[in-house]
Amino acid sequence: MPGVIIRGTGSYLPEAVLTNRDLSMMVDTSDEWIVTRTGIKERRIAPAGSAASDLGAAAARRACEAAGVEPGDLDLIVCATISGDQPYPSTACHIAARLGIPAIPAFDIQAACSGFLYALEVSRHLLKAGPYRRVLVVASECMSRLTDYTDRSSCVLLGDGAGAAVLERTETDGCGVLDCYLMADGRQAEILHLPAGGSRAQPSFETVERRLHFMRMEGGTLFRLAIEAMTEAGRILLERNGMTRDDLALVIPHQANMRIITAVARSLGVPMRKVFVNIAQYGNMSAACSAVALDEAVRSGAIAGGDLVLMVAFGAGLTWAGCLLRWQT
Ligand code: UT7
Repeated sequence: MPGVIIRGTGSYLPEAVLTNRDLSMMVDTSDEWIVTRTGIKERRIAPAGSAASDLGAAAARRACEAAGVEPGDLDLIVCATISGDQPYPSTACHIAARLGIPAIPAFDIQAACSGFLYALEVSRHLLKAGPYRRVLVVASECMSRLTDYTDRSSCVLLGDGAGAAVLERTETDGCGVLDCYLMADGRQAEILHLPAGGSRAQPSFETVERRLHFMRMEGGTLFRLAIEAMTEAGRILLERNGMTRDDLALVIPHQANMRIITAVARSLGVPMRKVFVNIAQYGNMSAACSAVALDEAVRSGAIAGGDLVLMVAFGAGLTWAGCLLRWQT
């Protein structure tokens, strides 16, 4: 059976930094509250006029470079985003154009913060089944565009960024993307959503006036569910692959809140020294969190050849997911 490896990763974070101090001048909050309740110190903001495909293409170029391939060598582009350039066409199509690829299959996946892991799983199966041999998976988000900067309970959390990975089919057994777990429960869609702009509530003066084009969330409920869901994904993946937490070299959790990350580590029984954390610098970048964290872990040497890595994520949908990787030597 052919397997699937991650040949190279890349990421791109816009230069502009929005600090807790900046936010404290916009809403009634403080650096102390944000750091103690979330662990976030700053986040990046994409420049006006730019969009998810600009960030995504920059991350993709870096992933191709790391993989030693040209954009023209790719067979398929899959992009995970909830803050794409526009409702349609897909951000994946825009990324293909920005990479200078005139003809390639390309589509988006919408699974919110779990999107990168959903995209990995879909791409893994397309690679295994053929005819694709090399897939570019991108997760790119401009969450600042969906953020209500008058709502202190959500605006402190979100940021912009993009990550990418080049996946390839391999004949080598036991390495690469070993297994993924995907789950969703649409019954609780309303606890994290963007109320208007779709076919249920099309844009109108009223939707703009009522600020319905910004994301809404029930933070407390999400907090509890995020811990349960990411723990579930991790436990199931370890169990069904006959592995234990002691086999793990690194856990890369979705970066929504530092307290969620430590609670997930605790319930999985993994020490924090084995948990990758970059939330202080970037906040929650939805699907891009997992992709950026994976790239930073690889580039910083936090992941070495032969390491078993567990990624877990949770977000709107509700969706949650996990991925077990054996990093190739
Ligand atoms: O990717 C998945 C998407 N989202 C999440 O996973 C979010 C998960 N939830 C969270 O991270 C946390 O629930 C929050 C960070 C959103 C909120 O933290 P919390 O510890 O659950 O605070 P809370 O909502 O219980 O609010 C406590 C107090 C409230 O004041 P009162 O009612 O006790 O007077 C809030 O109004 O903190 C207040 N508060 C703030 N104060 C200063 C809420 N946001 C802020 C703020 N600055 N930015």
